[in-house]
Amino acid sequence: MIFESHAHYDDDAFDEDRQELLSSLQENGIEYVINVGASLQSTASTVELTKRYPFIYGAAGVHPSETAELNEENFTWLVKQCSQPKIVAVGEIGLDYYWKEPEEEIQKVWFARQLELARSIKKPVIIHSRDAAKDTFDIMCAHKAEEIGGVVHCFSYSAEMAQEYVKMGFYIGIGGVVTFKNGKKMKEVVEAVPLDRILLETDSPYLAPEPNRGKRNSSLNIPYIAKQIAVIKDVSYEEVVEATNANAKRLFMNTCE
Ligand code: NI
Repeated sequence: MIFESHAHYDDDAFDEDRQELLSSLQENGIEYVINVGASLQSTASTVELTKRYPFIYGAAGVHPSETAELNEENFTWLVKQCSQPKIVAVGEIGLDYYWKEPEEEIQKVWFARQLELARSIKKPVIIHSRDAAKDTFDIMCAHKAEEIGGVVHCFSYSAEMAQEYVKMGFYIGIGGVVTFKNGKKMKEVVEAVPLDRILLETDSPYLAPEPNRGKRNSSLNIPYIAKQIAVIKDVSYEEVVEATNANAKRLFMNTCE
């Protein structure tokens, strides 16, 4: 069965049919979902979702574009959320220079703090990095991210960069972009990364794969992504689903199953 490693089911886009949609996932071949926090509020909503649905696990963290909301007081709250029983990772954290705010220095401070949080609680990280390849890699090297482990989600850099993260022991999150007609770079990334280092993800409600590009995304679209990876790597669809499922369990669930 499919392991969805990155979704945001707390998003407003699911307000009208969240329960109906989530209740349909397992019968459609989705075994587990990691719901990923991106702010303090969505971390709180993630914790709630993990309590309500047995197959939903969560990540607690603040996305780089939201780090202006962090201070010592609410960071203490965030640290506490990480000890909730079904929180299996710190994320999504990182750097995003596409959106200019908050300023780079603020993003860097809280990226480093959240990396060290993950180290201290021995949980992996979910990395978000956009237009910030060098700074992300440098900070991760400086903080010995190879000792922390995790996934670089919605990977958007070169195949060479992907191989550097694989050497660091990280997984590479592959989503809908790999199905896009202009997704040549992503196809090179999938060719370069061994199957035992790839995780399937959607980033729902964003980045729906072809043929649903532009629509609201959900984990039900993962088969389109897995089929594209199977074509690129010249293996069966089933092999992609099984390998990525085992990868995600190895990364996220070794402490809770
Ligand atoms: Ni995300």
